[in-house]
Amino acid sequence: MAVTFLKRKSIFFRSVFLVIVPIALLATVSILIILYFDSSRRIENSKESFSNDNELIAKTIQNQLWSLDRDSVAETVRNLVAIDSYAWIEVRDQAGFNLIVGEAIEEDGLLVNELPLRSPDAHSSEDFGMIRFGRRIQENSLTQPRLLLQEVSILAVGILAVGALILALIWREFIRPMAEISHQIRSTRGRINELYVSVDDPPHEIAILLDSFNGLRENYITEEKRAGDAQIRLQNAVRITGLASCIVNPESREIVSFDENFSDLHGVGHQGENTEQIATLWEGVIKVSCMTLENFHERGGNAQYEEVIEIETEKFETRKLRRAFQVRWTDESETAIVDVVVQDVSRINFLEEKLRQTQKMELVGNLAGGIAHDFNNILAVIMFQLEFLQEIIEDATHLKEIDVVLEAAERGADLTQNMLSFSHAEDVQVKSVNYHDVANSILRWVRRVLPDNIEVFDDIPSSIWRISADESIAVTTLLNLIINARDAMDDGGRITISARNICVGTADRELVDQGISPGEYVSVSVQDTGSGIPKSKIAKIFDPFFTTKSAGVGTGLGLAMVMSFTKQFGGHVTVNSVVNEGTTFTLYYRVFHSERNAERRNQEVVEKGRASTRSILLVEDEPVLLAKMATFLTQSGFEVLIAKSGDEAAEIFSKSQKFDLLITDVAMPGNLQGHELFKHAKSLDPDLKGIFTSGHSNFPTDLSPSWDSCTSFLRKPFRRKALLSAVAEVSGDVDKSGSQMMKIHPS
Ligand SMILES: Nc1ncnc2c1ncn2[C@@H]1O[C@H](COP(=O)(O)OP(=O)(O)OP(=O)(O)O)[C@@H](O)[C@H]1O
Ligand SMILES: [Mg+2]
Repeated sequence: MAVTFLKRKSIFFRSVFLVIVPIALLATVSILIILYFDSSRRIENSKESFSNDNELIAKTIQNQLWSLDRDSVAETVRNLVAIDSYAWIEVRDQAGFNLIVGEAIEEDGLLVNELPLRSPDAHSSEDFGMIRFGRRIQENSLTQPRLLLQEVSILAVGILAVGALILALIWREFIRPMAEISHQIRSTRGRINELYVSVDDPPHEIAILLDSFNGLRENYITEEKRAGDAQIRLQNAVRITGLASCIVNPESREIVSFDENFSDLHGVGHQGENTEQIATLWEGVIKVSCMTLENFHERGGNAQYEEVIEIETEKFETRKLRRAFQVRWTDESETAIVDVVVQDVSRINFLEEKLRQTQKMELVGNLAGGIAHDFNNILAVIMFQLEFLQEIIEDATHLKEIDVVLEAAERGADLTQNMLSFSHAEDVQVKSVNYHDVANSILRWVRRVLPDNIEVFDDIPSSIWRISADESIAVTTLLNLIINARDAMDDGGRITISARNICVGTADRELVDQGISPGEYVSVSVQDTGSGIPKSKIAKIFDPFFTTKSAGVGTGLGLAMVMSFTKQFGGHVTVNSVVNEGTTFTLYYRVFHSERNAERRNQEVVEKGRASTRSILLVEDEPVLLAKMATFLTQSGFEVLIAKSGDEAAEIFSKSQKFDLLITDVAMPGNLQGHELFKHAKSLDPDLKGIFTSGHSNFPTDLSPSWDSCTSFLRKPFRRKALLSAVAEVSGDVDKSGSQMMKIHPS
């Protein structure tokens, strides 16, 4: 109690009680002890000198008495008593002499000494009297309380004076500056930034204290600024990444606090949310927090835990949440809380998925690019040979059969083309396509090849707008959907293909949300009454290589191509499916606004080309194709010279032979490739024109842009008509747009 009381008191108070009073007591006791020992010593000394004195006096008086000189005795005694220190002296002998000189025989406070009086004869041991002295001992503090009081009082006053001096010093040097400092601190009301403490003429120690304090304040301001910056950075990071967080107290099984992102993610306060799902999510957060803490305690394990969970939203979208749990001990108490950070990783997963898909596409593209060159060369020979056969055979039935084979070869060429387009190895040529014609041309033969238990209905009005697409790709896309529908209807059913003109406005939320931007479209639906697609698989069906068909039956590329192609034309694909009821795929094609009749123009150019070009040097490393092309061109009225490689052609040019046109393959064995050969030949003959042929899509294109007008490109395999069109085009007789040819553009 006393200690507490003292603890709370000011330094002044404590100085008095803890320093001055104990010093005063200690000093008093010490001085008293010193006085005591000193006076005892003095009394001892007095006693000794008294007994010596007394013995001398006793001898003198003994002699005087022996000689019966009693007057002298009396005289001596009186003289002695006259001395202050003797209170009284008593002398007696056997002869009846009895002398007492002095005050009352009072023994208190006196040193009493009794000595025998003997005969001077040395042999006599008989006493003949005695003498007693009552002598005052010297006054001192021990024997005199008054004196003692006096001494202690003087001592106390001295000590108090010194104490007061010390206190005054403490007050001036310490207490006053401290009071001033605390006043300054209090007046800032906790705003440490504004606090700069200073005191007039402070003692060294206080000055050091002030320096440290003001230094601390500087540090605080710097740290506060740093903390502020860090907090802003953290807030920005949380806002940008959408990180959500909350704090869980596992002991009370409560979510103590949470931020806005957390409430957004977990649907707090959102009307119409799936409350059951929200409750499960919250319970989940608490459960895993408790588990993390338990695991940490029991196994001395990691104070962290991470997991990824999948949730389904009201709109049946699957969301992936990454949740991280971190155990933390609170400062004030020994309870552990758990920090929970939640991140919606659906988008990241989606992008990762996209990246994987792109990589797969690239793989397919590389494979396709690799085989395209050779495959197209083979197809070119087949097509040329077939067209040749068509000319020499007259039997109508055989001609029809050749038509079928030719069509198949063309489809093969289209397939290679599609593979290249799919992998984005090449830019797709967007043209105006009459979808009504395209769909009907497919439906004519599709009906024949589908099993009898599958009915096909179509509703494609001729009034539908022309679309922006590539015709062969549009055909492949529709075929893919029809084949999928067929495969989904093992026991038969109905396929309905319909097309409509539609305008998507910003208000068409459902379509816009699905990724269809506002504009004019032709929507093409392929609906079946097949098995349908389960919800769990619907998100994956557009992935490359996703198939539920057995190996060798499906590659899983069909829908991936459909999606890729349609998107390349600025369109989109949606799917709607109910298990055991059927599936509807809808293609959205953008409308083509400037239509041209390319067919008719092609027809015109063939004739014109033949008129302005005469001599052609034809270079091709595939001997059969070389022969077929040469024959055809000769038959078409051109003078044709052939070469099997670039080197051989260069030799022909160096013999200063002149040609109107060079038709050359791009990739050939030997030193000179197609474009190098053309450059070389052009340096010899600036008027030379060139046509490049290739089965490969991405050949080197380092020709001068100024040669744009005198060069053209033909992708193998090509029809004879296309070859003639190209000849006409480079001859400068015709507008190039709309033909089957593609310009070479330097990269
Ligand atoms: N109309 C449909 N009805 C039911 N399921 C379908 C339908 N269309 C596609 N699917 C499902 O989507 C999967 C992927 O289709 P996709 O066309 O990409 O590949 P595939 O048909 O399996 O193989 P490929 O087209 O290469 O021969 C199919 O395996 C099938 O499970
Ligand atoms: Mg398919």
